[in-house]
Amino acid sequence: MKCRICQHAISAFMTFGPMPIANCFLTQDEFGSEFFFELKPAFCERCYTFQIENQPDPELMFHDQYAFFSRTSVFMQRHFRAYADWVADNHLRGDDLFVVEIGSNDGIMLEHFANRGIRHLGVEPSANVAEEARKFGVESIVRFFGPETAAYIVSEYGQADSLLAANVMCHIPDLNSIAKGADLLLKPAGVLIFEDPYLGSMLEKTSYDQIYDEHVFIFSALSVVNIFAAHGFELIDLLPQETHGGSMRYVLARKGVRDISSSVSGIINDEKAAGLHLPETYRQFKRDCEASKARLVGLLTDEKDAGRRVVGYGATSKSTTILNYCGIGADLIEYISDTTPIKQHKFSPGMHIPVKPYEAFAGDYPDTALLLAWNHQLEIMAKEKAFSSQGGKWISPIPDSKSKT
Ligand code: SAH
Ligand code: TMP
Ligand code: ZN
Repeated sequence: MKCRICQHAISAFMTFGPMPIANCFLTQDEFGSEFFFELKPAFCERCYTFQIENQPDPELMFHDQYAFFSRTSVFMQRHFRAYADWVADNHLRGDDLFVVEIGSNDGIMLEHFANRGIRHLGVEPSANVAEEARKFGVESIVRFFGPETAAYIVSEYGQADSLLAANVMCHIPDLNSIAKGADLLLKPAGVLIFEDPYLGSMLEKTSYDQIYDEHVFIFSALSVVNIFAAHGFELIDLLPQETHGGSMRYVLARKGVRDISSSVSGIINDEKAAGLHLPETYRQFKRDCEASKARLVGLLTDEKDAGRRVVGYGATSKSTTILNYCGIGADLIEYISDTTPIKQHKFSPGMHIPVKPYEAFAGDYPDTALLLAWNHQLEIMAKEKAFSSQGGKWISPIPDSKSKT
């Protein structure tokens, strides 16, 4: 294949095997028509971009039945209030301010701009989550972001001071169209700010579950510099985040317009020291994934052999990669507990493990919980003290996770 960013010839360094759509929870009668693709990560030695080889069409992933609602985590609600405050305090100056967010989902971040009386607009292709945002006073247009959407926004609302995103830039295969859209949309001194799961954290923790259909890229600062340089943007700041098991916030502006923080060269040097630009790092990552799989399957098999009941906690999109790559089905996990109504009473993608409401877990504790939502570990541990104190055991699929969210 060709690198999605620089067109250099690249090839996958491993395969996770056939994968379904990570957020496509299904009913029994849909099992026969489930869509699968082969999940294969690749690394480009020229522009340093980590990417997956085949990504399903966006319309298969983002639609009016999209299953992920941002507000399900109270920690994330707090995070997005802080993100919005930080943008307002550091990057919005002057009058008639206007902020646009790509992938605004249920309005978890834009709500705070609305509350401050700052003009805002969400660009959100999944109609059901955009509808939810309206309840919080957040205006959205149901579209994918790109140059056409940017031109439409400029004609209807004017240019923006900030173009924001979280956990969506890494979903979009054609980043050139995003950069062109940003160039059309932003005022001359406007900033593009986005955050996504960070490649450095993924390699450090072997959190390979960050790789699934929606995550076509896992970014590093080294790659983001190259992706946007071609469109006249430069990195002016980098802020590591604890969310989603380790994320990075990237701040970009048109070249020469804003001061560059010293954190940019600092983090780029750290990435080079960690070998993020070297193919051998990814060969090691493959070996680490294989070891992680053997460990997890071993632990769950031991639980089964000991006659213990195991339940999955959190039907996360990430868990689709773990369950399908490791071949973990309803023989090893009785069901998965999840608080999201649209996922409940359905089956997990690919492995078809039943998904039950949280009350099933709380009302009849299993012996062991597999913490599929390991990125929400602190929030869940605080909530589940009763399960833990009566002897409930936790297994984390990503054992080194030190997530603070
Ligand atoms: N920003 C939220 C939601 C992340 S999920 C959070 O961090 O919690 C990603 C969201 O981006 C989904 O709601 C999806 O519908 C939306 N999305 C996917 N592709 C997009 C695109 N090309 N333009 C705008 N939004 C997109
Ligand atoms: P995420 O990892 O993509 O944020 O998804 C988290 C999933 O876990 C989402 O489906 C909601 C679910 N969840 C619970 O069931 N209980 C919880 O306490 C939390 C924080 C999340
Ligand atoms: Zn490349």
